[in-house]
Amino acid sequence: MTAARLSEVPRTGVAVTAATPARAPIDIAGVSQIFQRAGQVTHALDRVDLAIAGSEFVSIVGPSGCGKSTLLKIIAGLISRSSGTVRIDGQEVQGPYTNLGIVFQSPVLLDWRNVLDNVLVQIELRGLDPKQYKARALELLGKVGLGDFKDRMPRELSGGMRQRAAIVRALIHDPPLLMMDEPFGALDALTREQMRIDLEKLWLDRRQTTLFITHGISEAVALADRVVVMTPRPGRIDRIIPIDLPRPRHKDVLASRRFTEYCDMITECFMRHGVIKY
Ligand SMILES: Nc1ncnc2c1ncn2[C@@H]1O[C@H](COP(=O)(O)OP(=O)(O)OP(=O)(O)O)[C@@H](O)[C@H]1O
Ligand SMILES: [Mg+2]
Repeated sequence: MTAARLSEVPRTGVAVTAATPARAPIDIAGVSQIFQRAGQVTHALDRVDLAIAGSEFVSIVGPSGCGKSTLLKIIAGLISRSSGTVRIDGQEVQGPYTNLGIVFQSPVLLDWRNVLDNVLVQIELRGLDPKQYKARALELLGKVGLGDFKDRMPRELSGGMRQRAAIVRALIHDPPLLMMDEPFGALDALTREQMRIDLEKLWLDRRQTTLFITHGISEAVALADRVVVMTPRPGRIDRIIPIDLPRPRHKDVLASRRFTEYCDMITECFMRHGVIKY
């Protein structure tokens, strides 16, 4: 383990071993995606280049249909790309990459398992011992306000609670990489705000390399170290905006002039491409 890696070992809970990449950097070079289906050709992504450092939190914003989910699936190796390369921690992705946590817009929970057992399914699927992860699962559930709901079934939870359980399930094995595709998209504004605050806390605790896809301009800025703004399809990177704001991003930070300026920069990108019109 290098000195840099040692400094990234988490402070509590399950240790990251030398065999596990600590906080995986991602290198995306020249990635394009063309879908062909029933004679229809869709150019979804066009020569996307992006280097994400280990422990970095990157938000991706872009109009609907510009290829954000496609990019996330390509990085995770869930679909094969038309061209270009993706490396995670130096290794080229050539099939499903499993050393990560993924959260989608709708939480997929198993109806017949309670909250705790839904979280621990991640451990069982990996052939690990659930007993060893129970304390960590309870700690994480407590951190997202589900401590008293560990025995509840998914049907007894609100949408926000289900999504919190899905986030804990994505983090329970302490992955070096977290990918989230509009995880708060289906939630009401208040729950969404609280989820963002909780997510920042969880991320500050472990600093997984995180890729966060959203339609929300202010949400993207509030969470990220850098915001990647994409063009309409074929999705290209229009602009990458480093966000130099102190953490945690409490309400005074979000009320600052600088925060508004970052949001305006993104809005201007969308206006330039006709995505937002006044
Ligand atoms: N498996 C597929 N086969 C054919 N076309 C696809 C496939 N997956 C995605 N597409 C097309 O690729 C384009 C990009 O889709 P994608 O889901 O990546 O967009 P997105 O940016 O995530 O949009 P949204 O913000 O609405 O979720 C769309 O035109 C979509 O129809
Ligand atoms: Mg999508």
